Amino acid sequence: MPQRKPESAVDLAEAYYDSEDADTFYREIWGGEDIHIGFYEPPDLDIAAASLKTVEAMARHLDGIGADARVLDIGSGYGGAARHLARTRGLHVACLNLSDVQNAYNQQRNRAAKLDGLVRVVHGNFEKLPFENCSFDVVWSQDAILHSGNRRRVLEEVARVLKPGGRFVFTDPMQADGCPDGVLQPILDRIHLASLASPAFYRRELEKLGFATSSFEELTQHLRTHYDRIGAELVRRRGEIETKASKAYVDRMLQGLRNWVDGADRGHLAWGIFRFDKP
Ligand SMILES: C[S@@+](CC[C@H](N)C(=O)[O-])C[C@H]1O[C@@H](n2cnc3c(N)ncnc32)[C@H](O)[C@@H]1O
Repeated sequence: MPQRKPESAVDLAEAYYDSEDADTFYREIWGGEDIHIGFYEPPDLDIAAASLKTVEAMARHLDGIGADARVLDIGSGYGGAARHLARTRGLHVACLNLSDVQNAYNQQRNRAAKLDGLVRVVHGNFEKLPFENCSFDVVWSQDAILHSGNRRRVLEEVARVLKPGGRFVFTDPMQADGCPDGVLQPILDRIHLASLASPAFYRRELEKLGFATSSFEELTQHLRTHYDRIGAELVRRRGEIETKASKAYVDRMLQGLRNWVDGADRGHLAWGIFRFDKP
């Protein structure tokens, strides 16, 4: 087996999400349950409530699915969505994530909520899913596929593990269709990626894999609101956070958040809820 290059996107994401700096930031500022973009309706919702709203909005795409359905969440973070789906719909959810630190916390939260019979946590890489062909009714993912250096491979894996008739429901921070080359470099540099996907990329690649496009709910304004809110919260609680995370991390994060807000203001970014159905 060839060795992976140490600077691969997978290694970088694993090292980043396992770090004490990142764990502190995402648990304390982002809410600790859900670490994705929130749905700010009404606009004054706090970060945790808005983040739950995104899960609820996505979960509407699971209406009509039986309680015996199997769900796979790829890049599952601390498992907030999995617990929500298990608690509210009785669904079995497998959380696939490469951060051991997040996985340990996820398991702890599942046990505390008495949901460990429904939610299982699997360490792994979504570019090489450790599951049989056609083993899930739903693949779910929130703001995780951006971290891949090989998104086509992730989509092929999703197509492989979904059963016929299965649904792929996901969000991902993307560049807008038609975004000029080079303008997102500050964002890409900070997250050590060569590119972001775009709505057109997902439509094209998933259609090539035989999926039917069901819907894309364009919600980019919430990306802007979310990163702005996270930045304000980090500034407000900076003293407390810097007792647990490094000042250099906080400085870099604040600059990174400003880059996302700026990119959204310039119309270069996109975010929303996709649903694709496998025939
Ligand atoms: C922004 S967080 C989102 C977490 C979760 N989906 C949520 O919404 O709360 C991105 C997640 O993707 C995971 N991730 C990044 N690259 C991955 C890969 N190659 N395989 C599996 N998980 C990955 C990270 O560990 C992290 O949990």
